[in-house]
Amino acid sequence: MHDPANSGDQASLTLAEPPDFDSYPIHHAVKDATPIAEGVRVLWDDGLECRYHVFWLRENASDRETMHPVTREQALQLLDLPVDLEVVEAGIDRLGNLVVRWSTGDESRYHPGWLYAHSHGTLEHFTLPSRVFWDASLQEDLPRFHGPTVLQDEGLFGRWTQALHVHGLAILEGLPRFPDVIEDVPARLGPLRTSNFGRVFDVRSRPDADSNAYTDMALPLHSDLTTREYQPGLQFLHCLENEAKGGDSLLADGFYIARYLSETTPELFDALTKIPVCFANKARETDHRWETPMIRLDEAGECEEVRWSPWLRAPVVLPFEETALLYRALRAAFAAADAPHHRINTRLQPGDLLGFDNRRILHGRMGFDASTGARWLRGCYVEREELDSRLRMIERTKRTQQELASGGVD
Ligand SMILES: [Fe+2]
Repeated sequence: MHDPANSGDQASLTLAEPPDFDSYPIHHAVKDATPIAEGVRVLWDDGLECRYHVFWLRENASDRETMHPVTREQALQLLDLPVDLEVVEAGIDRLGNLVVRWSTGDESRYHPGWLYAHSHGTLEHFTLPSRVFWDASLQEDLPRFHGPTVLQDEGLFGRWTQALHVHGLAILEGLPRFPDVIEDVPARLGPLRTSNFGRVFDVRSRPDADSNAYTDMALPLHSDLTTREYQPGLQFLHCLENEAKGGDSLLADGFYIARYLSETTPELFDALTKIPVCFANKARETDHRWETPMIRLDEAGECEEVRWSPWLRAPVVLPFEETALLYRALRAAFAAADAPHHRINTRLQPGDLLGFDNRRILHGRMGFDASTGARWLRGCYVEREELDSRLRMIERTKRTQQELASGGVD
């Protein structure tokens, strides 16, 4: 295909605009492009060979008719395209853009960094950092940050969010002991998720308790709001007072426990990923319940969510053999999480803000004696997707700064 740059086409003098707001450093160049049936075959300079489908390419073009210039969302509708749309020519312009000429007579250009980032088998651009699973050995190495500094330093804020994702938990220390801190700090990640316990909830012993959490009894390791279709992704607990005898916090990594079960008792792990459990609350005013297996895996077989509730499960109604298998699996899971070499034990200090992934990290507490002093934690929920978005934005900002520093081409 001819290079339109040589025929005076001004558009070819700039890199094609990606059809979104991200930055795509160019690590690889298109070496060759050939029209094929229903698409284009591209050979990259690292040897990667990719086929891009005709509709995939056409609807991801960044011209004004295809992409709204302000929102950068798609303006073109898939059904607006002729069903027999074909690529009649494909090539590379002087700046490395893939150039495609369509059977309709139009032409589209594709930024090579964007194209490579969205190729089959190379989609790492939006991948979040790998999670690090942990056992009791994290006790001495809990991710702790000085809260007031984190809130003023963008880089440290990023490290805090990364710890929340990678280890699934992090503590901000030394925050003011004001009741509204629990709304202000987590809200920097995203909107708070409210529930029947309120926008924020006060964890302290009270005579009219509507949850075991609001007594002084020990709470075994669990996740919150297991009875909802969609469990809150993140939980934050701000310690305002902790003078009572007892009440230390317990934490365990549900994903580590899941992996441990898969390695030591695979048939029980399998049962926990397949047999539905009915999680149900017991309350005078509400009747929340949700039935699902306790461990949910993603398509790659990686743990995506644990739903862990020793005390909010409806009676099992299953055939006898399946009931027996489920009870063996539940006992193995609860015992594994509670094993001292798997969980950590820490005492929150007034001013500490503990944040954790409620769909991964199990939390609980030792019992405490309310007559010996006050214990008051304020809590709230934020969705995990807000954290994921923030982590991607941190990476996007880094890429944009690198691209600016390098003049656009890596
Ligand atoms: Fe809880």
